[in-house]
Amino acid sequence: MKTLQRHHGAAGISAAGAPEGPVREGSAALPPDTWLQDGAWRVEQSLSRLLHAECDSGSELMVAMRYATLQGGKRTRALLCMAAGALIDAPAQVLDDVGAAIEMMHACTLVHDDLPAMDDDVLRRGRPTVHVRFGEATAILVGDALQAHAFLTLAGTDAPGERRIALVRELARAVSADGAAGGQALDIALAGRTAPLDTIMEMHRMKSGALVRASVRMGALCALPEDASSAALYAALDRYSSCFGLALQVVDDILDATADAGVLGKTPGKDAAARKPTCASAMGLPAARRCALDLLRNAAEALAPLGPRAGQLVQMLQRAHAHLPAHAPGP
Ligand code: IPE
Ligand code: IPE
Ligand code: MG
Ligand code: MG
Ligand code: MG
Repeated sequence: MKTLQRHHGAAGISAAGAPEGPVREGSAALPPDTWLQDGAWRVEQSLSRLLHAECDSGSELMVAMRYATLQGGKRTRALLCMAAGALIDAPAQVLDDVGAAIEMMHACTLVHDDLPAMDDDVLRRGRPTVHVRFGEATAILVGDALQAHAFLTLAGTDAPGERRIALVRELARAVSADGAAGGQALDIALAGRTAPLDTIMEMHRMKSGALVRASVRMGALCALPEDASSAALYAALDRYSSCFGLALQVVDDILDATADAGVLGKTPGKDAAARKPTCASAMGLPAARRCALDLLRNAAEALAPLGPRAGQLVQMLQRAHAHLPAHAPGP
């Protein structure tokens, strides 16, 4: 199945960190990129290592955790962490652990998002969802255990104690009541209702944006304490990741309304079927597409002061742009 994780690159967002004029309609594919491929491979290796060591890998729970986590996904959050860490020469081994912890947490949110009580989805990353394959009780426990393993991984990584505490705090905040958990609660509360755009954007910030923002900050936290001397760098990264996180969910909403299951690797049309207010439903597909492009441009602008060393973070924007349909049907 040709799902989104196999697409790479896009033109229109420059490697200097600033937008290259208007982003073009119809993205040209970039050549395969070594860093993105190597990074995704490293994430896979780290997850396989970390989800093997501490438990009996033959137990059904660990089999289901590995099913939920390995061999799939675009690895956006881990790659963002690695790209931010590369800016400041953070140790690769620590970035591997931290990126894997973030992907475990992300997988937890996806497994729970798919449950019958939530979005009730049967397809994820081109395969049956965890509750379809292993049962609902196991899927709930997979989410619980992945969350625990994410924090265990951060607690055990080879970094000074205060840095590990900062990493744990950052990830916990991202999935807290002010982050993914609160955003998912809002998502459920708003189903079947119309909501103003700023409420939808706030929901996006919480349910998806918070973990994206944390992923970038955690890459930086691997080597750089948050103090006055690093305030400008963290401010630039926060602006970048806040725009990127919103763009990610806006693109996801557009794809839900426009792509097919073969490309998405998940069930299309779920948002409309559940009457979820999204950017696409609130403003129409063409305006939602423009909104995503504006967010990606703003994210690129945030990187401009960082210069060429932010090249990997720019590449992440280019890849997100490549996932945006060239034309969104509508008025
Ligand atoms: C899906 O995230 C859920 C959203 C927050 C939009 P991704 O599109 O990053 O999912 P994977 O990890 O690539 O499967
Ligand atoms: C879910 O958003 C965001 C999470 C916190 C997991 P969606 O419900 O739109 O994600 P998909 O489309 O199922 O991946
Ligand atoms: Mg959902
Ligand atoms: Mg969903
Ligand atoms: Mg979606």
